[in-house]
Amino acid sequence: MDVYGLVGNPVGHSVSPPMHEAAYDELGMDASYVAFEPAVNEIRQAFVGAETLGIEGLNVTIPFKEDVAAIVDADELAAEIGAVNTVDFREDGPPRGYNTDAAGVKRAFDHHDVDLEGRSAVVVGAGGAGRAAAFALTDAGAEIHIANRTVDRAIGLASELSSASGGSLETLDSQIGDASVLVNTTSVGMESDETPVPAELLHEDLTVLDAVYSPIETRLLRAASEVGARTIDGAWMLLYQGVEAFEQWTGRNAPVDAMNDALRAALNAE
Ligand code: ATR
Repeated sequence: MDVYGLVGNPVGHSVSPPMHEAAYDELGMDASYVAFEPAVNEIRQAFVGAETLGIEGLNVTIPFKEDVAAIVDADELAAEIGAVNTVDFREDGPPRGYNTDAAGVKRAFDHHDVDLEGRSAVVVGAGGAGRAAAFALTDAGAEIHIANRTVDRAIGLASELSSASGGSLETLDSQIGDASVLVNTTSVGMESDETPVPAELLHEDLTVLDAVYSPIETRLLRAASEVGARTIDGAWMLLYQGVEAFEQWTGRNAPVDAMNDALRAALNAE
């Protein structure tokens, strides 16, 4: 049996195991996906153990994504983002690290037929998810503005990208009006009825992606729907980072519908 998994702390409520196991079932693969929770200062030992035990691949989540980028052979995009969420142990030599969060953003837009080329986009947040979204949107040809509570982080990230600017959350007031894409990558709205973007700034020409997936319909997405904007919920981004990881590990096309059904069932059961 092939073993894949997730390392994070905590991982108790992860919906990745049912999502990946639905793919194995659908394709008749003899494989299993396990959530592991190493102590926060023991990620290196966990990786040595995973390699020794013959684990095929691991996803990586909070708080390990940046640490893992430094201990595996990260590809160019993951190195630029500075975070690894997918590790492939199958080849000889050091494990390879990838960032499929960026592909998750791009593929979530593709799934909804949103062409990002030449679009004006606003990214809220400049943490790990914000960096992945900013690189994905820039790669796809969008011009982006990054707004973040900690201004220096937004300006620093913008300076690493072509065609990007950065500023405080107050800059949302002047930037959203002309934008056609808005992505929330902050944790605001997770398990709470808050929004990082005042409702009065939203308009019907926007497509709004919220990386928060718990609840699936956040306050931001609700407010966006109310003004007639298009909405893409965070489960799409979660799905496509998993689809991309599956395809990286197995070289096969992922059974996207089966993974999506399992993911949404698991999220709704929480
Ligand atoms: P992740 O890897 O999930 O992106 P992170 O690196 O801790 O997590 O980043 C969290 C993001 O949410 C950051 O942009 C953070 O803003 P700061 O850089 O100022 O910390 C943002 N964030 C978290 N709580 C917030 C809040 N209450 N209001 C506004 N932004 C918040």
